Amino acid sequence: MGRPTYPIRTARLTLRPVTLNDLDDVCSWQRRPDVFRWTLSEPRTREESRSSVIAMAGEDALRVEGDCSTLAVATDAGVIGTVELVWRSQTDRTAELGYVFHPDHGGRGLATEAATALLDWGFTEFGLHRVYGRCHGRNAASARLMARLGMRQEARHVDSYLFNGEWADQLVYAILAREWSRRPLRGQ
Ligand SMILES: CC(C)(COP(=O)(O)OP(=O)(O)OC[C@H]1O[C@@H](n2cnc3c(N)ncnc32)[C@H](O)[C@@H]1OP(=O)(O)O)[C@@H](O)C(=O)NCCC(=O)NCCS
Repeated sequence: MGRPTYPIRTARLTLRPVTLNDLDDVCSWQRRPDVFRWTLSEPRTREESRSSVIAMAGEDALRVEGDCSTLAVATDAGVIGTVELVWRSQTDRTAELGYVFHPDHGGRGLATEAATALLDWGFTEFGLHRVYGRCHGRNAASARLMARLGMRQEARHVDSYLFNGEWADQLVYAILAREWSRRPLRGQ
């Protein structure tokens, strides 16, 4: 069982479980087509976002394999995105990283800062061995984010899945606990 001690604070951010009070903020990005440009999900109505927020609110810990832990990423401006870890394998101590941020708050390193805090928890507190992430081959912002986190590109699965009716490449990035602990710290 893994449950971070909330809130997790970073230099600019507070990470904590999602609550129903976050619905307006979550709607503000879930209704935008650009946010879903490279994912299999679609923009959501307010009612669909409500269901999404209710589901995310229950994702506050990794209790059993398959669980997802979703954290709301808050600034003074409110909740600007979410980061998540899905516990893919208990045996292999492996999780998958995910993230979605409001485009108005992009380009300042805030997604990197939030994901760094979650990975730190995953490796140092929860004891993960490996974290991987996947994205559409043309999701350049997501690929750059994973590279900035120190993740290695391990694969480009060519024409491996159907995306809006067309075959698409999928990139796979990953990082191991030993790599995480030895990664160069930026800005120092
Ligand atoms: C993926 C996503 C979170 C990346 O957002 P982002 O704004 O590029 O990421 P960050 O907040 O970490 O900001 C990084 C950018 O800010 C710049 N930056 C500015 N100050 C910075 C700082 N202090 N630290 C790090 N980067 C900084 C970086 O150079 C980088 O710009 P670049 O990519 O043009 O080189 C965002 O595009 C998104 O939510 N997309 C929609 C959802 C999605 O596709 N999710 C992934 C599904 S696989």
